[in-house]
Amino acid sequence: MVTSMSVFEAPPTPHTPDPSPLPVGNFTFVLHGAGGDLAKRKIIPALAHLAQGGYFGPQARVVLVLRESTNTADLLAHVDHFLSTVGDEAARRSLYALKPYLHTAQFALDTSSSTSNSSNASLAQQQLAALVAGGPSPVVHYAALPSALFVPLIAALPAVRNAQQLRLVLEKPLGRSAAEAATIEAAIAAKLNEDQVYRIDHYLGKQAVQNLLALRLGNRIFEPLLTREHVASVHITVNEDLGVEGRAAFYEATGALRDMVQSHLLQLLAIVAMEPPVSLEADALRDEKLKVLRSLKLPSLEAPADLVLGQYTAGTVHGQAVCGYQEEQGVPANSTTETFVALKTEVQTWRWAGVPFVLRTGKRMPSRSATVVVQFRDVPKALFEPVGGQWAGNKLVVHLQPQDKLELHLLAKSPGERERLRPVSLDLDFFNTWRIPVRDAYERLITDILRGRLGLFLRQDEVAAQWKLVDHIVQEQQRLNLVPSPYPSGGWGPTQAGELAG
Ligand code: BG6
Repeated sequence: MVTSMSVFEAPPTPHTPDPSPLPVGNFTFVLHGAGGDLAKRKIIPALAHLAQGGYFGPQARVVLVLRESTNTADLLAHVDHFLSTVGDEAARRSLYALKPYLHTAQFALDTSSSTSNSSNASLAQQQLAALVAGGPSPVVHYAALPSALFVPLIAALPAVRNAQQLRLVLEKPLGRSAAEAATIEAAIAAKLNEDQVYRIDHYLGKQAVQNLLALRLGNRIFEPLLTREHVASVHITVNEDLGVEGRAAFYEATGALRDMVQSHLLQLLAIVAMEPPVSLEADALRDEKLKVLRSLKLPSLEAPADLVLGQYTAGTVHGQAVCGYQEEQGVPANSTTETFVALKTEVQTWRWAGVPFVLRTGKRMPSRSATVVVQFRDVPKALFEPVGGQWAGNKLVVHLQPQDKLELHLLAKSPGERERLRPVSLDLDFFNTWRIPVRDAYERLITDILRGRLGLFLRQDEVAAQWKLVDHIVQEQQRLNLVPSPYPSGGWGPTQAGELAG
């Protein structure tokens, strides 16, 4: 047991003040998997920041559910210790604020307590009902669990088809394939209505991703140019400097394709490529994203391949020596799980046909960043002399993290007599513009769940369309017996990835 309780017992130090907190009222929030990495790293800190920001009603109740027996003090001490090891001091300082709302409970689901096994299921139902008894509505069950436990959890929920009373939140990835996702969806449909289900992709909770929508749909100047006539390629890149961070069991069964591409990268692609929706209502947005996801070209894995998979080996990141993926604790020495993916696809619509969309993500890169780069075509006739004999072209770069920033790369005449062009860029840093700290994605998403807003969550058909692309890659990978190429930690991935056209 960890004993360091000092920080959340200490007098409060103000966390980023929200300029206008709109309280969410009372609720019962049941966090399943409260001892897991995601809960400790993201969800519990987000709840604590919200509690500190004054969002919760006086009767609000947060129930942290673990497989093992625990109590609130021990669990908080454990989370505090974890946050100190990952260096999240702001989250540590806000933990005290969650205490008045906190309850802990033991509830162990196992894969046999599904609908098919009614005696286990009814026992689980009774236990779950006892956990929330007397708490205010809505009751939110948040499954920060491996997806193999989703069906048993759904089996344990009461059959209440009312979003004011019961909501279910599911973390990604939903299953490991379209077939597994369909089994989970069938269990959901047997009990709940679609408006009770919040399928999370935390990238949609990022302020910068919402800003991408605002840039496209709130301005006149970008939208007319986002077409095959003007755009040469679109690159969506999410680089991570972290490795698997003690999540080997999860990661071995998942890999970068299911962990990042199936969700975050495809959602970013959908937001960049979708047609303007008729409104910002949840279904209007989801309808447009769905059309994009359904028009994606399935990448070829045969030469010239549209896909490169990689796996990190030992190397150096930020000056620190780090081990290779196969040396990580819990990873088999012969693992073929990919930690890097680069793939080229196309949105086969009138607007985008022929424009390569290159998605790229990897762990243990030299730094953490996420960008969307729209590379525009060259002017039809070059009248100026390019510097260095090469056109740099116009480029819109949207930085999603670490900074929320926009760059528009243009060409301007360089001073002097010659008609020569030089690249210049218009930069807009949103933090410097607003000077308001941005809320973490999970804080935004949790308030949306508590307010009953579905716009930033995925609909079942979007998830199915995303699986279609990933299933195709997995099947082709197995057919062709492809294994990831090694790349050193602290590098930008396998060299072949640089050759994916675009
Ligand atoms: C999660 C993945 O969904 O996203 C992690 O499971 C990944 O493997 C994380 O590290 C990246 O999120 P962010 O917000 O740090 O870019």
